[in-house]
Amino acid sequence: MTIIALINQKGGCGKTTTAVHFSYWLATKKKTKVLLVDADAQQSSSGWLEGMESPIPHKVVQTPDDLLEQIPELAKQCSQLVVDGPASLAEATRAILFRADLAIIPVQPTGVDLRSASEAVRLIKQAQSVRGGPPAAAVFLSRAVKGTKLKDEAIALLSQTPEVTMLKTVIHQKQAIADTSGQSATVWDLPSRPAKESGQEYERLFKEILALL
Ligand SMILES: Nc1ncnc2c1ncn2[C@@H]1O[C@H](COP(=O)(O)OP(=O)(O)OP(=O)(O)O)[C@@H](O)[C@H]1O
Ligand SMILES: [Mg+2]
Repeated sequence: MTIIALINQKGGCGKTTTAVHFSYWLATKKKTKVLLVDADAQQSSSGWLEGMESPIPHKVVQTPDDLLEQIPELAKQCSQLVVDGPASLAEATRAILFRADLAIIPVQPTGVDLRSASEAVRLIKQAQSVRGGPPAAAVFLSRAVKGTKLKDEAIALLSQTPEVTMLKTVIHQKQAIADTSGQSATVWDLPSRPAKESGQEYERLFKEILALL
């Protein structure tokens, strides 16, 4: 019955990739009853999950009205509801934030992306004010390149945002992760060493996220 949403109106920051890996990890490694709500207009997470050998339950819900009405009903059917948020659509993101227990913002370490994260934080603060508390919120660095100055600067900047928790785990840019969606797989299905490293990063990230609930 917990609702965890991946949100950020900035496209390409890793919402879908994280939502699919998180749902898979919860279902297979934690044996949790999971449902993924696909609010992304391209329906990329539902297509990805449908191609898997043992598919994770998922449902496409896209309009702000449907998200507001259906998320609580769908949450009753599972232990963890993971929402893959849309790019661009402020009203749909707002609807999700009115229902989520926890909002997670993946942020790429670039100037444009850091500015868009502050937009996401603004929507979160509005939802928290209307709801008198929830949703809890956290941010993590997504698709970061090891050893770059941008990554260090982004960590310093995001750590100064008091409204959201900065998660310690960084998900690095890896070809192994980029390869997963095309194969309807996750990094845990791929045999390479980089895939194994990314699997460990995701596992650390997801444990940090669960600890916030
Ligand atoms: N850590 C990573 N390393 C390499 N590639 C990545 C990583 N995370 C995501 N990608 C790739 O980046 C692209 C965008 O990722 P994804 O679709 O998850 O972002 P999104 O936030 O859902 O985008 P949108 O807002 O358009 O829905 C995809 O091609 C994906 O394979
Ligand atoms: Mg997406």
